[in-house]
Amino acid sequence: MLQSLVQTKQGMTVVEIGCGTGGWARALASMGLSVTGYDLSGVAIAEATKLTEHDYGDLRFAEWDIHSATPPYSLAPQSVDIVTCRLTVAFLDREKFVRDAFHWLKPRGILHIVTPVHEHLKASEKHRGLTERQISELVAGLEQTRYAIEPDRSITGLILQQGA
Ligand SMILES: C[S@@+](CC[C@H](N)C(=O)[O-])C[C@H]1O[C@@H](n2cnc3c(N)ncnc32)[C@H](O)[C@@H]1O
Repeated sequence: MLQSLVQTKQGMTVVEIGCGTGGWARALASMGLSVTGYDLSGVAIAEATKLTEHDYGDLRFAEWDIHSATPPYSLAPQSVDIVTCRLTVAFLDREKFVRDAFHWLKPRGILHIVTPVHEHLKASEKHRGLTERQISELVAGLEQTRYAIEPDRSITGLILQQGA
C-alpha cells in the first residue's frame, strides 16, 4: 500500500523506528530502498540481523532506544527520505518522535506510521493502539493521507509531510 501512495525511487533512504525482528524493514529493502532499522531490544536486533544474512539488499539494523539522549551519528539532520514506524508509535513519546522524525527528514520527506486504533481493538489489545483523539493530535498541522490497512479499521496507515 505504501508503494501506491508514495513514489519511491531506488536507493531512497528509509529509517524504521521500532523495527523488531525486521520484517517490515526487509520488505522495504526488497523494494530497492536503503533501510536502517532501529530497536531498543538487542535480542530483536540480533534476530533481525540473523534473518537478514541472506541478501535482502541495502539493509542494516542497530540497537537504539529512541528515547535515549544521543541519536546514532547516521541520523543527521535532513538526511532521510522516509521515516517509518509500524505498530510501535503507541509505545513512544509521540511528540518527541514526530519532532525528531521531521528533524531527520529531508524537506518534503515522509513520516509513515502504521498504528492500531484503540476504538477498534479488542479489550485485551487496546494498549497497542492510539485513540482517534491521539491520532488527531499526532497529525495536527501536517499534510496527511490516511488509509485503512484492515477492513475493520483496527489498523490505520498515515502518510505525513510538513507543509510545502
Ligand atoms: C510491536 S513491535 C513492531 C515491530 C515491527 N515494526 C513490525 O511491524 O513488525 C514494537 C517494537 O518497538 C520497539 N520499541 C518500543 N519502544 C522503543 C523505543 N523507545 N525505541 C526503539 N524501539 C522501541 C520494541 O522493542 C518492539 O520491537
